[in-house]
Amino acid sequence: MKAVVFHGIGDIRLDDVSMPRIKDPKDAIVRITASAICGTDLHMVRGTLGDMKPGTILGHEGVGIVEEVGREVRNVRPGDRVVIPSTIACGYCSYCRCGYYAQCDIANPHGPQAGTAFFGGPAASGPFDGLQAEWARVPFANAGLVRIPDAVPDDQALLTSDIFPTAYFGASIAEIREGNTVAVFGCGPVGLLAIASAHLLGAGRVIAVDTIPSRLELARELQAEAIDFNEVDPVEAIHSLTGGIGVDRAIDAVGVDAVRPGHGPGSRHGRKNVSKFQQELKEIAPRKKPDGRNWVPGDAPSQVLIWGVDALAKAGTLSIIGVYPETAHAFPIGKAMEKNLAINMGNCHHRRFIPKLLRLIRNGSVNPAAILTQHQPLSSAIEAYKAFDRRQPGWVKVELEPALQA
Ligand SMILES: NC(=O)c1ccc[n+]([C@@H]2O[C@H](COP(=O)([O-])OP(=O)(O)OC[C@H]3O[C@@H](n4cnc5c(N)ncnc54)[C@H](O)[C@@H]3O)[C@@H](O)[C@H]2O)c1
Ligand SMILES: [Zn+2]
Ligand SMILES: [Zn+2]
Repeated sequence: MKAVVFHGIGDIRLDDVSMPRIKDPKDAIVRITASAICGTDLHMVRGTLGDMKPGTILGHEGVGIVEEVGREVRNVRPGDRVVIPSTIACGYCSYCRCGYYAQCDIANPHGPQAGTAFFGGPAASGPFDGLQAEWARVPFANAGLVRIPDAVPDDQALLTSDIFPTAYFGASIAEIREGNTVAVFGCGPVGLLAIASAHLLGAGRVIAVDTIPSRLELARELQAEAIDFNEVDPVEAIHSLTGGIGVDRAIDAVGVDAVRPGHGPGSRHGRKNVSKFQQELKEIAPRKKPDGRNWVPGDAPSQVLIWGVDALAKAGTLSIIGVYPETAHAFPIGKAMEKNLAINMGNCHHRRFIPKLLRLIRNGSVNPAAILTQHQPLSSAIEAYKAFDRRQPGWVKVELEPALQA
């Protein structure tokens, strides 16, 4: 079968690989009907997230049709249409039972302290072969797979595999209350759905920060007040929009590949941080391998953490869902302390949110597929990765379909 395979930093290929097989009675084999490329995949190819094992199939977002189940899988049958949660979790340990699926004690073969187990991730996360493939083995399918209601099409359901639950989790841990003003940093797929999720949780105003015109336009369509960080200093703009008070809640939907303003007042104010960012990048991405405009790590790893803390009102809450590797150490702790901020963060507990989000989609409360701008055949995956990585205008969220012809 065809699959997107990680060979090295800056080197991914569409390879012929062997078909997955059931290895455990709780496994299922799913024929993937749609997968997607995520900002998390970009960190791995740019070299800013973890040690990837060459040969790992990439991708952690997918929907498909169950083809075969192990003897302990009783929730789904061959022929069922399912969404695959990005994180892998046993469903029976004390963490899973409390809804902390990303902290499952059992799923990661390196043990309970090794971190979140997920498809297509670094060696320390399993590694488990991912979902940018024609077929996939799903461990703990007995507790993980969620059937898709007939009324929900594949492209809507696909977004509940990772980014919509992540965005909703980000809005939840931001502790949004009715009427709050929320800043969302990053208008990639996760940030855009964080805007939608903030509204679902009752936010009064949402202010969105990015610099890519097509993404800022989508943010506006989602009723956010859009700020281009290359036009104005985003912290100044947020304070000016909030009577000098700042926002009640801020969500970092950017992570380690943040960039700093290249021009405008933000770049002048940020000059003092440049050498600090360069030092951070040395520690985080010692082996980067840019190829022209592709696979270039962000030049300001802690930029959004700094802006988030500065933009918040006193006693506000910072929610961090943008991903940072273990090697990232920089955080403006003193300022956050002085302002009595609450800080919540982490990997999404996908399985906890998926059934609820499928219901919200089915009853028409939300349409996450509004951000799905590209439908590409799996056979064009490498070109699609490059366009998404370069943030080509209009390329917001890319679906990969094995059955589409190039
Ligand atoms: N916590 C989780 O469980 C989880 C799950 C999925 C994705 N993520 C993470 O969420 C983040 C976003 O994912 P995505 O798919 O939307 O990625 P993406 O790369 O498509 O989007 C990131 C956006 O941030 C913008 N950006 C860069 N620097 C910025 C800055 N200084 N200020 C404001 N915006 C800036 C970029 O222009 C881009 O539009 C990634 O870090 C990804 O790894 C986390
Ligand atoms: Zn993802
Ligand atoms: Zn568990």
